[in-house]
Amino acid sequence: MDLLEELTYEFRSGEALAADLGVSRAAVSKAAKALIDEGYPIEVERAHGYKLRDGTPVPGALREVLIRRFGSDYRYLGRCASTQDELRTWAESGAPEGAVVLAETQTEGRGRHGRTWESASGLSLTFSVLLRPTSAPVTQLPLLSLVAGLAIARFFGHEDAPLTWPNDLLIGGRKLAGVLTESKITAEEPEYVLVGIGMNFDPPAPAGGIAFTETRSSSADRTRVDVFAGLLGSLEDLYAGPFLHADATTIIDEWKQRTGMLGANVRVETPGGTITGHARDLDPTGALIVATPDGDEIIHAGDVTLVREEGTDA
Ligand code: BTN
Repeated sequence: MDLLEELTYEFRSGEALAADLGVSRAAVSKAAKALIDEGYPIEVERAHGYKLRDGTPVPGALREVLIRRFGSDYRYLGRCASTQDELRTWAESGAPEGAVVLAETQTEGRGRHGRTWESASGLSLTFSVLLRPTSAPVTQLPLLSLVAGLAIARFFGHEDAPLTWPNDLLIGGRKLAGVLTESKITAEEPEYVLVGIGMNFDPPAPAGGIAFTETRSSSADRTRVDVFAGLLGSLEDLYAGPFLHADATTIIDEWKQRTGMLGANVRVETPGGTITGHARDLDPTGALIVATPDGDEIIHAGDVTLVREEGTDA
């Protein structure tokens, strides 16, 4: 029985579902409970029956709103360890470029620099997208990290989602979305890149976060599946356009327009230690240039915090 495929955003009675699936009402009830236990956001009301939480990105709903090709190959999961790992396994067995795995919850969701990433069923967008930039030089791969953040910022507009290097979207110091990119490189050539995106969609967001629907009053018209399709379309546009055409200037210039951090004082936790200074610019590879009393530091990986003049976090 595939109850998930039968459910929609409207309530359907247990009786109607049982009749369509050719099973008993008790079997429907048991299957619904199993799906909820697996992490799927299903609402149950004694008087009305069963429905999916509005905007739940089940494959049928995504298909109807997909903008471009990314997401045409799609796996929708209730719970997994990390969508990065699910997609890696799929990539190793031949998944095509643009394949996407979304999970409602992750038990081992990863953030950058060894952080964890939390997401609650029905309240977030937690997904990974497969890129196969096999014709790009390895040296160009760091730009993908900017591309992913830029894709999100472009979709939301600068006022709603300003970028912090390399790809965090923070509003008033609270995190709306983050990106983790992981690459497989064989014999100095890119084989694939997993672009993992986590976005808080509905409150409550995890500590330190902000949810998309808290950030604007007009968000009611955009459901989770619409935003998901929009993000995939935006990523595909930037990837297939400027990135695959090796147009780093377009990517970096637009990134700079969509950030509020250049010119600010920052503290950057890097693998080699903490650097504080003045965020001056990005270099042509997308690295962050921080002016310090000892001269410019070129930072390729790190976590940025904006600091006020007197040294407190902004
Ligand atoms: C960060 O800001 O530190 C990056 C967060 C990235 C989280 C996403 S959620 C989907 C994908 N799967 C993971 O385990 N991590 C990324």
